[in-house]
Amino acid sequence: MGRIDGRALNQLRPVKITRNYLKHAEGSVLIEMGDTKVICTASVEEKVPPFMKGQGRGWVTGEYGMLPRSTEVRKPRDSTRGKIDGRTMEIQRLIGRALRSVVNLEALGEITIFIDCDVIQADGGTRTASITGAFVALVDALNKLKAQGKISRIPLDSFVAAVSVGIKESNILLDLNYAEDSTCQVDMNIIMTEKGHLVEIQGTGEEKPFTKEEMDQMLRLGEQGIKELIRIQKESLGELSGIIGDEGNGSN
Ligand code: CDP
Repeated sequence: MGRIDGRALNQLRPVKITRNYLKHAEGSVLIEMGDTKVICTASVEEKVPPFMKGQGRGWVTGEYGMLPRSTEVRKPRDSTRGKIDGRTMEIQRLIGRALRSVVNLEALGEITIFIDCDVIQADGGTRTASITGAFVALVDALNKLKAQGKISRIPLDSFVAAVSVGIKESNILLDLNYAEDSTCQVDMNIIMTEKGHLVEIQGTGEEKPFTKEEMDQMLRLGEQGIKELIRIQKESLGELSGIIGDEGNGSN
């Protein structure tokens, strides 16, 4: 079976990570995965939420949004309806959990990092692109804190990235675009660290329940995609990539 955009079944869309994309945020990235484009910023606040005060630990939290015309049919702003919809809430919590899984919050100290992921163009896989891009923005923000002497090392145990996989007409596909996402029988979002340790899996076989064997195949393909994405994160970070994980607690 050929794919709509001519890719091999196990091929990512073209990935581009542009660092220092915006002026004000401590870390900012434009990530493009094919036609999906997300701006990810990491903003530093030198305090923690009231319930965490005095514990010597930091916090990383995620927010996510789609620009009204990031989609084919205009999607009203959340603020227009006065509340965040369920999908947005799910995705922003996922982003927070994904990044916290590799941050050593004790080593961060009483600092909060706000991760904002804003989709400017949606063509499938916006949550996974958000996580992969946000990690790079987070490294830049942490590196700024280190340069200012506010932390003694980069408190990251590992790289983390995310990708979608799915089953369409019995084929296992890597990195679904919207046309594939909306017509596949099974889709799964996988978040994984550099060592191949799973942080989270969101898999849905609503259309066609899947077997454990298929799950294994999807995980293997996802791991291959995530390894490639981490290679691209490293390439984008250049020499900064060398200071991640070395002094971590080794648990990732
Ligand atoms: O983007 P992601 O795959 O993480 O999330 P999804 O909820 O599975 O949505 C898949 C795709 O549907 C998005 O990437 C968009 O291209 C499209 N979508 C949309 O056009 N309008 C929405 N309100 C939500 C999703």
